[in-house]
Amino acid sequence: MFDSALISRFKGVSTPFYYYDLGLLENTLRRLCQESKRQDFAVHYAVKANTNDKVLSVIQSSGLGADCVSGNEIKKAIESGFSEKQIVFAGVGKSDAEINLALDAGIFCFNCESEQELEVINGLALKRGKQARIALRINPNVNANTHHYITTGLDENKFGINIPDLNEVIQKLRGLSNLQLIGIHFHIGSQITDLATFKNLCTRINDLQHYFEKQHLVLRHINVGGGLGINYHEPDKEAIPDFANYFSVFGEFLERRPGQEIHFELGRSVVGQCCSLISRVLYVKKGVATRFAILDAGMTELIRPALYQSYHKIENISSPYRSVGAEYNGKDLIKYDVVGPICESSDCFGKSVELPETLRGDLLALRSAGAYGEVMASNYNLREKAPSVYSGTI
Ligand code: LLP
Repeated sequence: MFDSALISRFKGVSTPFYYYDLGLLENTLRRLCQESKRQDFAVHYAVKANTNDKVLSVIQSSGLGADCVSGNEIKKAIESGFSEKQIVFAGVGKSDAEINLALDAGIFCFNCESEQELEVINGLALKRGKQARIALRINPNVNANTHHYITTGLDENKFGINIPDLNEVIQKLRGLSNLQLIGIHFHIGSQITDLATFKNLCTRINDLQHYFEKQHLVLRHINVGGGLGINYHEPDKEAIPDFANYFSVFGEFLERRPGQEIHFELGRSVVGQCCSLISRVLYVKKGVATRFAILDAGMTELIRPALYQSYHKIENISSPYRSVGAEYNGKDLIKYDVVGPICESSDCFGKSVELPETLRGDLLALRSAGAYGEVMASNYNLREKAPSVYSGTI
């Protein structure tokens, strides 16, 4: 991702900053659109993964819809040029104000997560003299085999309507005349790398389709959510996720009815690899049994390692041995605990990270920071918001 010309241009930029490779984002979108069209699937970008203006504008011009989880995300999507007819609105806790905003905007569909939410949306739609299109978000109790904080489709999770409650919910729905049921929705979790997990989801959806047919309810849309993982360990080997295989699981195993539309809500796999957090080494400090490389970026710029113990590849891009491996054969690597400046022990990007000798002033790249990176930044410790820098303009 980084050639020496680019690295020398980085030298003039104050750190930390998010570096976006917009060319990679465009190529990712091209592949995504190619592969989804091949199967005649529709994709909504999960806006929560990254709401950077430039990123949203590139995604919008590729023709994707938007999956939003708050009123402000809906506003932002519309401001960024997404058509309201291609906006879906999910979330277990939609406020009345957010529902009204979505009704006024005339979004495509509310993904509803509880019986009470159905009643509230119906009441608000009635007051406005509107019909709201809704899909029932069903908790399919399918294990996503990912970190428990980003698992959403198990009985113990707060998301969706549990299958044993469906009869009651459908009974209720029949009496709510300002709602129009158009489909069902699922999202079982994030950073899913084992495609067999999605096959299990398809099997569960197939059973549920039979159930709805017995109830004489027609499902025009099946929304299978997002969740496709990316390769955090080898971001350059797999800069673009394997969309072809991912979509073919659904093409093969999901029993699609004639005229039915299949929708996806992908976030991480669209934007994950197009950004690195670039940070400078402030200090190298000897610990008792380790050596710390203390950076000027911390959990305030990239919280994923602190929150989910997640791995992000760390590269010293100032060292002459940038790509540890081929040129460097692993000689003289030194182990560092790579940490940030925040007053929390969890502010650690990686323990015992093998790097070439690392010195004060070196630039380090924390890779695969495009999804849930900039968007989860905070100003804890009253830190300034780190700026974004884009390929082609630096
Ligand atoms: N649809 C729904 C209803 C969701 O809740 C999510 C993500 C997505 C789609 C997009 O999932 P993706 O394709 O990005 O996996 N902050 C965590 C991830 C939280 C995901 C929340 N929901 C992380 O950094 O790993």
